[in-house]
Amino acid sequence: MTIHIGLIGGGNISETHARAARAIAGVEIAAIYGTNAKKVATLCREHGAKPYHDFDAFLAHRPMDMVAIGSPSGMHAAQGIAAAQRGLHVLTEKPIDISTERADVLIAAAERSGVKLGVMFQDRAKPGIRELRDWVSTGVIGKPLLVDARVKWYRPPEYYSGSRWRGTLALDGGGALINQAVHTVDLLLWLLGDVVRVQGRTATVLHAIEAEDTAVAILEFASGALGVLQATTAAYPGHPRRVEITGAEGTVILEQDRILAANLRTPPPGSSAGIAPDENQSASSAVVSDVRGHQALFEDFLQAIEQDTVPICDGHEGRRSIALVEAIYRAASSGTAVVLEKP
Ligand SMILES: NC(=O)c1ccc[n+]([C@@H]2O[C@H](COP(=O)([O-])OP(=O)(O)OC[C@H]3O[C@@H](n4cnc5c(N)ncnc54)[C@H](O)[C@@H]3O)[C@@H](O)[C@H]2O)c1
Repeated sequence: MTIHIGLIGGGNISETHARAARAIAGVEIAAIYGTNAKKVATLCREHGAKPYHDFDAFLAHRPMDMVAIGSPSGMHAAQGIAAAQRGLHVLTEKPIDISTERADVLIAAAERSGVKLGVMFQDRAKPGIRELRDWVSTGVIGKPLLVDARVKWYRPPEYYSGSRWRGTLALDGGGALINQAVHTVDLLLWLLGDVVRVQGRTATVLHAIEAEDTAVAILEFASGALGVLQATTAAYPGHPRRVEITGAEGTVILEQDRILAANLRTPPPGSSAGIAPDENQSASSAVVSDVRGHQALFEDFLQAIEQDTVPICDGHEGRRSIALVEAIYRAASSGTAVVLEKP
């Protein structure tokens, strides 16, 4: 059976989507919709798709089974809702949108239409990260006590100045925290469970943008563990994301997406040593040239469609990181701790 995918956006990440999806047998890129006609035309030529500049006409294209949304973050929910209402499955880029309010409307629309909804947090599909999650869930690390997550990335000034949406509150919803560090926010929640209380500070220390380029948060997990999160796009030249998790049995260090060190009382049998690391330069660029993470997410989503299962990151899971990001922003603007509502 051939699966026909429509791409929304047509910019940087849609190029990754096209390559990742086409690396899967039986997948075709049927149509591409975006506002930059030149980029859409180039992508369509490369991938044999039909270009659209009218959203309704794009959504009416058939055959088309699902859309992959790679438009500015603040467009995801509205476009996902429109696609769901036409019976198309929706796999959207992170974040699900820029507020929980919008996420909820999208989740409800997908459920009403009976279509699958997935969010592209590709870290969840990466071998080293999956292994770390197994270690946490099977008790290899012991009861989690303390986590230290650092996203000291760099984006050059042109990353913002050459974009109509990056770093804007209306379409990016914020800066380094909601755009770059949201992967790590999702990862912390996926690995360690819910956060119940946060404190935070944000600042715009380097870039000429409306939103923050730097954020710091103190996290209190429902499990009792404490955590610190640092996020920035001002750390030249950009350093690999680092997550250090200390449990009662020792400490594990994740660098970007591979386990760098496991200093544990009882070392786990076998380890991810030897697994090829992610080749993306996420620390210094928005380009996702190594498509394996996205490919694995597409494969998981297609399986969810075919076998009527739940994708690795469905709408409810995708909402969690935005709820936490929202709470950190609220804590930063109010200067007081924020208690998260139970989802
Ligand atoms: N998962 C990842 O690792 C990853 C990496 C990069 C970007 N992203 C996400 O992908 C999304 C897009 O980021 P990008 O780097 O591709 O940005 P981009 O600016 O390169 O591409 C976005 C494209 O959307 C088009 N666009 C603008 N308004 C639109 C609209 N209303 N409808 C359709 N298209 C519209 C623009 O012309 C542009 O070409 C963001 O949500 C971002 O968070 C995810």
